[in-house]
Amino acid sequence: MTITATASANTNIALIKYWGKADESLAIPVTSSLSLTLGGTRTTTTVSFDGGAGGEDAVTINGATPGGTARERVVRFLDLVRSRAGMTIPASVTSSSTVPLAAGLASSAAGFAALAAAATRAAGMRLDERALSRLARRGSGSATRSIFGGLVLWNAGVDDETSYAEPVDCDLTPAMVVVVVSAGRKTISSTQAMRHTMNTSPLYPAWAEASREDLRVALDAVRARDLPRLGEVVESNALGMHAAMIASRPSVVYWLPETLDVLHTVRVMRDEGFPVWATIDAGPNVKVLTTGEDADQVAAVLRDRIPCATTSVRYPGGGVRVEEVTA
Ligand code: DP6
Repeated sequence: MTITATASANTNIALIKYWGKADESLAIPVTSSLSLTLGGTRTTTTVSFDGGAGGEDAVTINGATPGGTARERVVRFLDLVRSRAGMTIPASVTSSSTVPLAAGLASSAAGFAALAAAATRAAGMRLDERALSRLARRGSGSATRSIFGGLVLWNAGVDDETSYAEPVDCDLTPAMVVVVVSAGRKTISSTQAMRHTMNTSPLYPAWAEASREDLRVALDAVRARDLPRLGEVVESNALGMHAAMIASRPSVVYWLPETLDVLHTVRVMRDEGFPVWATIDAGPNVKVLTTGEDADQVAAVLRDRIPCATTSVRYPGGGVRVEEVTA
């Protein structure tokens, strides 16, 4: 009997970043991280261990057949699920994202969280959310957090057992305004860039050290419902991560001139009284943390001042969902 399982997961944006693995093969991060899962950013993935095609896994992502590293990562992940389920049969995997690639939110986080849920159900396994989070980690670090909705803490841990994410109670109602200055593909993957930063940047140890304290401050601010305090540490943590990358040898610079325009505009808006703080991932686009009530106005001002960018508003969203299982 072949089981076909479909699951979906939203992407997430780190408020306190994950950048660097203490153990590459198990994907144990150097530091713990905190993120916000964003609504309306689901990737939906269907898996069945049906023999695949031509004796290999058949993988389709957004209607295309990926090659190279993108395919290898999916196959490696399926191998992990197969080894746990005690099976060897190839699978068919079809994945599609509701978010246009140009939204600047294309992320392996939603993809591997959905794949973890769909592949385990298709393999006849029933994992609780913590176990799913630990498994998704092996696909992509940030996927660890996409298992849960809202505000999420990924405990770095020290081994496979202790490195997982969990939801954080939060009375804040934040939103993210996503400012896309370029929808082009990144020149260097996060996996490679974080390894290079760790290996060559004299600033990396300082960032990692500061990040531990940043997380404490961020969690305190969440408990105190203090968005300005949270926002300040969010922006500092991301800029510190980029400073460490820029100090790598040779340097990793994801920013474009427009990235700095947005950063500058966010500062000016803050001086004008808007509750806005910037964060940037492994790319040139800027995500602006603000309140749910202010998000539309913030987006309107950003559209006016950075007309070349594509700006959209995202609110917190839910965790991984098993959509359908048929046998
Ligand atoms: C800058 O999770 O994409 O978005 O674990 O190697 O797959 P791998 O990396 P990935 O890195 C995300 C880096 C980041 C920060 C974050 O999401 O915490």
